[in-house]
Amino acid sequence: MSGLKVTVGKISFDRPGIVASGIMDETGDTMVRMLRSGAGAVVSKSVGSNPNPGHRNPNFTEVPCGCINAMGLPNPGIDAFAEEMEVAVKEGPIIGSVYGSSPGEFAELAGKMEDYGACAVELNLSCPHAKGYGMEVGTDPKMVGTIVKAVKDAVKVPVWVKLTPNTHILQDIGRSVEEAGGDAIVAINTLKAMVIVPEFGKPLLSNKVCGLSGKCIKPIGVRAVWDLHNAVSIPIVGVGGIYDHRDALEYIMAGASAFQLGSAVLTEGVDVFEKINRGLEAFMEEYGYGSIEEMRGVAHE
Ligand code: SIN
Repeated sequence: MSGLKVTVGKISFDRPGIVASGIMDETGDTMVRMLRSGAGAVVSKSVGSNPNPGHRNPNFTEVPCGCINAMGLPNPGIDAFAEEMEVAVKEGPIIGSVYGSSPGEFAELAGKMEDYGACAVELNLSCPHAKGYGMEVGTDPKMVGTIVKAVKDAVKVPVWVKLTPNTHILQDIGRSVEEAGGDAIVAINTLKAMVIVPEFGKPLLSNKVCGLSGKCIKPIGVRAVWDLHNAVSIPIVGVGGIYDHRDALEYIMAGASAFQLGSAVLTEGVDVFEKINRGLEAFMEEYGYGSIEEMRGVAHE
């Protein structure tokens, strides 16, 4: 499987597929399970300063083209998450996802994730439905730059920044990440969405506004990676609607160095990583590519 090895800035992974934040990554045991199922790394659930129960039910459902969620960033708080990280980091690379409302809070959380053994931190600047967090702080290029700089000053591990597609200035935001010293951009998080149940005359989810993921967002994610590839030189990790190796290839050929899977793990099961790994190897053999890096960005040529 050496042809599947990828490098994202300073870190290398034996396999290119990474578990996206929010899926099978709330406990040490589930993160270990995903690493044993063919994922190259796991991004933890986004963790904040204090325990957070998240939004009440209903907060997730499938829709014909994907999934919608408004979990509300449920997590046990950064101090309690230490024990989950302790289990997970013994098995393989874990990227610690954090969310905060200020540069100082992001820096403190990232520092703790580094202390817990995370190989990188991922800043959630993109959750579309959390008041005061996520895309509310992640759509202002100046604020994004200030947060990234604060975290870079606080940690030695690479700093990845997960961006939202819910903006018309994605390239400006990407450039802010790069100028502030960010090591990689992860694109994209979910799209701001809503489902209404006609019989009830009300939105389905308790939070009303939610995030759309799954197959239907893939073309948006691929376009976002394409645009970012034209705007920045730091690595990009593609995410959004990847279910098979052909989906992954679209992101790689748009410019992604690696990719993440979220909704597909829920609907296809944990074997999806191994299936994608085998599909990529067969494709590379048939089309004469020696590595993922050789295919990166070829659609631009
Ligand atoms: C959630 O926990 O609400 C989802 C996180 C996200 O969309 O970033």
